[in-house]
Amino acid sequence: MTLSLSETTMTADPAAVFARLRAEQGHVAWVELEPGVGAWLVMGYDEVLTIARRERLYSRDARNWRLLRDGTVPPDSPLGPMMFFRDNVIGYDGAAHGRLRRPLDAAVGSIDQRRMRRSVERICGLLIGDFAVRGRADLVADYAVIVPMLAIADLFGLDTMRGHELLVAMQALFGSAEDAQDGNRRFEELLGEAMADRRRAPADDLTTALLHHPDLRGDSEVLQSMVVMVSAGYHTTISWIAQSLRLMLTDPRFAARVRGGRLGVDEALDEVLWRDPPMCNMPARYALRDTELGGRPIRRGDALVLGLAAANHDPRVHGGAAGGAPGAEPGNRSHLAWSAGPHSCPGRVPARLITRTAVETVLHRLPGLCLTVPADGIPLAPSPWTRCPASLPVSFPTPDAPPEVTHDR
Ligand code: HEM
Repeated sequence: MTLSLSETTMTADPAAVFARLRAEQGHVAWVELEPGVGAWLVMGYDEVLTIARRERLYSRDARNWRLLRDGTVPPDSPLGPMMFFRDNVIGYDGAAHGRLRRPLDAAVGSIDQRRMRRSVERICGLLIGDFAVRGRADLVADYAVIVPMLAIADLFGLDTMRGHELLVAMQALFGSAEDAQDGNRRFEELLGEAMADRRRAPADDLTTALLHHPDLRGDSEVLQSMVVMVSAGYHTTISWIAQSLRLMLTDPRFAARVRGGRLGVDEALDEVLWRDPPMCNMPARYALRDTELGGRPIRRGDALVLGLAAANHDPRVHGGAAGGAPGAEPGNRSHLAWSAGPHSCPGRVPARLITRTAVETVLHRLPGLCLTVPADGIPLAPSPWTRCPASLPVSFPTPDAPPEVTHDR
């Protein structure tokens, strides 16, 4: 029976699932995205690099997906939001992609990191201040879900109130079908207002940087560039923060590494990108002609999912290294969490700054933090693409009371 892609994310032990799949099928495995919708899960490190880098053979443009063209995948498929064609930087190859990508790289390059760090510290401090007196919190719902959106909104010049509105709109957009349309409308409206403000009064922010980039043609391309940056950075950064906090609370070796100071935190964060990359499975590339990959026959129009988590666990990369565990070698950043090639993530600098600040602020402001459920009782948010804790209930001492329940392992 064909394995469903969700079985690689919704498991307590992804490494065991990858090992089994590899033993059965090699480094390129046939999996099911939805019942009746198959795709290749590319699990080999070199094979992921190949499909990410060779865009003349492996296109990013979903209009090349055979199962979409022949109607096997319906227009209202739940795969749509992640896999259908997008008229923005994500959807194009070659020169058309390069033109839409240059403004994003330039905008990210213009970020004043010291100022951004101060803003993120303020955001994290305020959120922790809101729940610190309670002595308990859910570090996902009360913190990890909120920090990235407020931080990214701030980069685009939206104040905290507008950042919260953006978060609500985004949650509706990804939530129930009923208010998804309204969420989408409000999301674009808020970013559109920021764009109009900056057109009138330029400022030192990403909105202004995009508005003045010569490669973007008109307001609609500026708006779509804002939309793609906010939405691409949102779930991924939540997951990086949540997975880092989960490991801090459940893995004493990791916790010691985080507490080792600034260098320690950065190295520990890289360990998370090896072990639990925020995008475990990244959709997708589409073969432009019949070919072969990892010994498997690939047909023109086949979808290939970038198995970033699986590739990080490729035994050919970790064979004899430090116990064979991904991320165990300090300073090794050759994981594939950001993917590779022309579409590789342009947001790594702000993503790291947000995540590092979020984790450090928890460390400084909430000493004595303990998980209030057993480590194996932490639920995962259901998704075939990511593997993010759905909640992290914790307790910590308040100025007048000790924590109530402790399950620190
Ligand atoms: C933990 C944080 C993040 C991770 C792990 C991550 C990872 C990724 C990955 C794997 C891709 C896909 C590459 C591909 O298709 O080959 C991507 C694309 C992208 N990311 Fe990120 N990302 C993160 C945060 C951010 C942030 C904060 C931003 C913006 C502020 C951002 C903006 C984008 C954009 C615009 C793309 C599309 C680029 C293109 O198609 O050329 N990401 N990211």
